[in-house]
Amino acid sequence: MSHLLGIDVGTSGTKALLITTDGRVVASSTRTYPLYTPYPLWAEQDPEDWWQATIGAIQDVISSSGIDPKSIRGMGLSGQMHGAVFLDENHRVLRPSILWCDQRTAAECEWITNTVGLEKVVELTCNPVLTGFTAGKIIWLRNNEPEVYAKVRKVLLPKDYIRFRLTGEFATEVSDASGTSLFDVRNRKWADEILDAIGIPRDWMPRSYESPEVSGRITEEAAGLTGLKAGMHVVGGGGDQAAGAVGNGIVESGIISSTVGTSGVVFAFADEPVIDPQLRVHTFCHAVPDKWHVMGVMLSAGGSLRWYRDTFAECESLVSKSIGGEVYDILSQQADQVAPGCEGLIFLPYLTGERTPYPDPNARGAFFGITLRHDKPHFVRAVLEGVAYGLRDSFSILDEMKVPIRQVRASGGGARSAVWRQIQADVTGREHVMINVDEGPAFGVALLAGVGTDIYGSVEEACRATIKVVLTTNPDKAANTIYSKYYGVYRNLYQSLKGDFAAVADIVAEHS
Ligand code: XUL
Repeated sequence: MSHLLGIDVGTSGTKALLITTDGRVVASSTRTYPLYTPYPLWAEQDPEDWWQATIGAIQDVISSSGIDPKSIRGMGLSGQMHGAVFLDENHRVLRPSILWCDQRTAAECEWITNTVGLEKVVELTCNPVLTGFTAGKIIWLRNNEPEVYAKVRKVLLPKDYIRFRLTGEFATEVSDASGTSLFDVRNRKWADEILDAIGIPRDWMPRSYESPEVSGRITEEAAGLTGLKAGMHVVGGGGDQAAGAVGNGIVESGIISSTVGTSGVVFAFADEPVIDPQLRVHTFCHAVPDKWHVMGVMLSAGGSLRWYRDTFAECESLVSKSIGGEVYDILSQQADQVAPGCEGLIFLPYLTGERTPYPDPNARGAFFGITLRHDKPHFVRAVLEGVAYGLRDSFSILDEMKVPIRQVRASGGGARSAVWRQIQADVTGREHVMINVDEGPAFGVALLAGVGTDIYGSVEEACRATIKVVLTTNPDKAANTIYSKYYGVYRNLYQSLKGDFAAVADIVAEHS
């Protein structure tokens, strides 16, 4: 029996997933690590934590499955996108990685846009320069830590740093490179014109592959640390969204995924690089060779519920611990006690600024419409509904762009709760289905490893062989009618508060 391995270097932990070549999950392990926020709006992690977690998670799946590592035909790498890992001439990490959800680079993004010109930026990268993307982080380093910048020789994305530790190769692949603001998304290569214009040396950027292509082999040293076989193939893999989409079978037009992890992403396949004229959704290379995708990204989806849990659900956490249950199940039960619309309580989920539909690092979260009647179950349901309104924003944009939507596949932690899944179906007015596997990006890159090592003839074939729909959640018409009315208010709230968000950001910056 042959196996495939997928690794996902996520924001809360690194997951290793071992599957058989017909898609059956054999073993899975996640090792977690901290996220540091040294200042408001900053988000950093230590790449060494990712590496130690990767070693541990691989050791876990090998030992818990009892398989012979020689049976693993290949592995794929996925990870949180956009983060910058800076290496010196000895390939040592120079400072903590600046992550996708970090919002410190507004001034740098504006400078890049003005220096290159918005039209040129969009022509080449198919997107605006956003604070979460990588280019602004490199320029921030030049402006704010020049002594560190002077030592930089390589810039890698999170999963590509792990690739370097595993294979010794400096490599990336097109889907993750698309989120750097430095990549020619139409032609699937580095955008030399932008690198030159903003003064970033071309040789800092790793070689770019298509996602299923072999990008390197496991070194003797990495084999010794992980238990993997030296020489095993490592394929390009994918940024977590493109990889997760492969794992959801989003490899043809009309099938859309709606994934609620830390972020909330509505993802559509595209045969061509289609661009929203208002630049509210991202257009990136897909992990399917010569295909693209369009996606709307909310920064705090599952992240909003985690924040609620950590801040307000101490009792529920203690209860769930004492009965050996899951705190999220208790929160779902509470939310289920409240009628759709929360009797007028509305949550804005902009806890780390926002990207879709408002690329606004200053946006903040809010509860609106609180009355004496509102208690904890209302608040938790408002969080679930607020995230679903945010997802509806992305669906509306795809509709405006005439992107066909035949089927919505719900995935991530937010799909596992029946209550939240129903809220998503009701708020968007669309049937949501679930598939047989919910292992996220790690499953997608394990399939890509199967394509790169000739087990499957194509990414589409890998998905057909392993993925099927198992559950359908239908929208409730009456609930959808109520939600559509509240959605109008939800949309107005951002417009009304936009100026105050900016004012608050100025005050916080002045006094921190
Ligand atoms: C995608 C994005 C997030 C991160 C973390 O553009 O920013 O999905 O990759 O999951």
